[in-house]
Amino acid sequence: MLGDRDREGLVPKDMKPLGVICALPEELEHLDAALDIDATTERAGYQFRQGHLDGCPVVLVEGGIGKVGGALVATLLLERFDCRGLLLSGVAGGLDPDLGIGDVVIAERLIQHDYGAMVEGRLKPYRPGVPPLGEWRDRLGYEMNAGLRAAVAGALDGFTLPSLSAAATGGAPRVPRLRFGTVLTGDQFINCEATRRRLFESFAAQAVEMEGGAVAQVAERYGAPCVIFRSLSDLAGADSHLDFAAFLAATAEGAARVLRRVIPAL
Ligand code: ADE
Repeated sequence: MLGDRDREGLVPKDMKPLGVICALPEELEHLDAALDIDATTERAGYQFRQGHLDGCPVVLVEGGIGKVGGALVATLLLERFDCRGLLLSGVAGGLDPDLGIGDVVIAERLIQHDYGAMVEGRLKPYRPGVPPLGEWRDRLGYEMNAGLRAAVAGALDGFTLPSLSAAATGGAPRVPRLRFGTVLTGDQFINCEATRRRLFESFAAQAVEMEGGAVAQVAERYGAPCVIFRSLSDLAGADSHLDFAAFLAATAEGAARVLRRVIPAL
């Protein structure tokens, strides 16, 4: 889908790698454990692990929290490691009341919810790079193209994640759901019910996190495909700091499993 592949679906030896980003060690460990590693290269203090994930060439990196770190490692993956696309796996806060802890959102649209202008005490969002003045002149988000969406949906057809225990969701045991949706990105951890509600009502978004929209912005500049996988560690409300700490490790595995399922189709 994203590069040349022979008819049997085997990965050609010279296929360029996919760049795979996680923000946190608890997110990275699920992919690192499955990585057949060839080399590690340090750049700007980040460790880039070059190798194969399920037979596919990848460069895996922990980029840290926030938009600048996400943009920085995304740029290095494309410039220094010649990656043909970018993937991100990690957790997010849920915004959509239909979703629960452990559910996985695959971003078909990413919006940086904290870029814009303060007008009458509220942030009016704009597309990053567009002067934040006057009427909107452009769409807000970074959209996944239809061909890539179809490839991801095809790879996930019939796929289910293992059930999460009660201890891993804070409620009843449940099988996580997978859905495409809108993911918001900003340099704030959302730990506030009023903000969660405002973000859901303003953007009709499913999840909020701190890196995906920055990675998508870089990918768009380079014309590179990009897919962001987010499992919900918390619901972004008043308890999100407690839920995040309690459920990070178990829920991060879901996004990593979905990414591994999708990688061979890309
Ligand atoms: N990542 C995981 N939970 C989050 C939250 N509540 N806000 C922002 N990023 C998150």
